[in-house]
Amino acid sequence: MSRIVYVLNGPNLNLLGKRQPHIYGHETLADVERDCLALAKDLKLEIRFHQSNREYEIIDWIHAAREEAGGIVINPAAFTHTSVAILDALNACDFPIFEVHISNVHRRESFRHHSYVSLRADGVIAGLGTQGYGLALQRLARLIDDKKS
Ligand code: DQA
Repeated sequence: MSRIVYVLNGPNLNLLGKRQPHIYGHETLADVERDCLALAKDLKLEIRFHQSNREYEIIDWIHAAREEAGGIVINPAAFTHTSVAILDALNACDFPIFEVHISNVHRRESFRHHSYVSLRADGVIAGLGTQGYGLALQRLARLIDDKKS
């Protein structure tokens, strides 16, 4: 099984650390990328880290992952609650997928309680801050390792 993992981030996450820090914290997306790359080294994963404000770009990366990856960690941000197209793209993948939210979406507005992506995700992490990305990567590495043996 491929050890390439796509870490995908949806709209407005480029503003991480600057927008609503009381909800999303002070870490930037560059900090998250750096931490993911460092952890990936230990876990022997190869990370493709992306962010976009455009739905089609995220879909294109999911299609690319489908060709070469062993898993996806995705924070679809607001597309979580709206995008059947991202769900359809994820449904075309047959490797593990983990959905991450920095905030606890279930403690927020009711429109954030529904996730299209959760219909496909093998696991969901919400409310653990940016640490959620690393935890999802650890789980993914375990699943990839178990498949190998
Ligand atoms: C988010 C939660 C979403 O509801 C929101 O639209 C985001 C970020 C999170 O990481 O907590 O942009 O996915």
